[in-house]
Amino acid sequence: MKKWQISILLIAVLFIAMGATTKINPSDDGFKNLQILPKDISEKELHNVMRDYSISLGVRCGFCHARVSDTTKKELDFASDAKDEKKIARHMMQMTAYLNANYFNFTASTKPDTIHMIMCYTCHRGKTQPDGKTMRTQVDSIMSQFRKKQ
Ligand code: HEC
Ligand code: HEC
Repeated sequence: MKKWQISILLIAVLFIAMGATTKINPSDDGFKNLQILPKDISEKELHNVMRDYSISLGVRCGFCHARVSDTTKKELDFASDAKDEKKIARHMMQMTAYLNANYFNFTASTKPDTIHMIMCYTCHRGKTQPDGKTMRTQVDSIMSQFRKKQ
């Protein structure tokens, strides 16, 4: 991932109000299993990105992150890829960065009031799966108004 693509991820975070605090403790060698985010990302930046994802999907960290193998403990093993949700999230990160890179003009927009990039919240709006039913109802209603005017 290129440097400016990372900044998109980080800028996106600034749009979202900050919520709950959860302590993440990377080992001294940093994070262990970053495949998309930069390996030298600071703890603070990584935490902001993760909080953005949680708020965008309306979930807690454990939606994507598996528990540690010791079942008597409640901690999460953040480096583990055991949950499919984490793998899907990686695809979503790549898709979002790709759409911004190829279809949005976020650096040189002359219209500051428009949304010139997309982020997780654009589709998810606080839900794990974007709500297709509400959207279809809205689209149907717009379409029927449109037909009446014809
Ligand atoms: C929507 C899914 C999702 C949610 C919710 C989420 N994460 Fe993540 N998290 C990921 C993905 C995907 C990665 C790996 C990113 C990569 O490969 O570059 C990751 C990586 C991490 C890592 C780095 C682990 C390592 O050593 O490699 C930490 C720490 C972490 N998340 C903490 C959190 C915390 C704390 C929360 C809750 C505030 C949280 N995450 C919520 C998807 C999520
Ligand atoms: C262009 C719209 C769009 C964007 C942007 C988007 N998503 Fe999604 N995402 C979806 C849709 C639609 C689904 C449901 C797919 C399905 O049900 O087949 C989904 C599903 C998911 C799931 C699986 C949820 C589940 O219940 O298993 C995760 C995790 C996820 N997205 C994370 C993210 C993260 C993190 C981001 C931002 C980096 C993001 N998404 C950005 C449209 C989007």
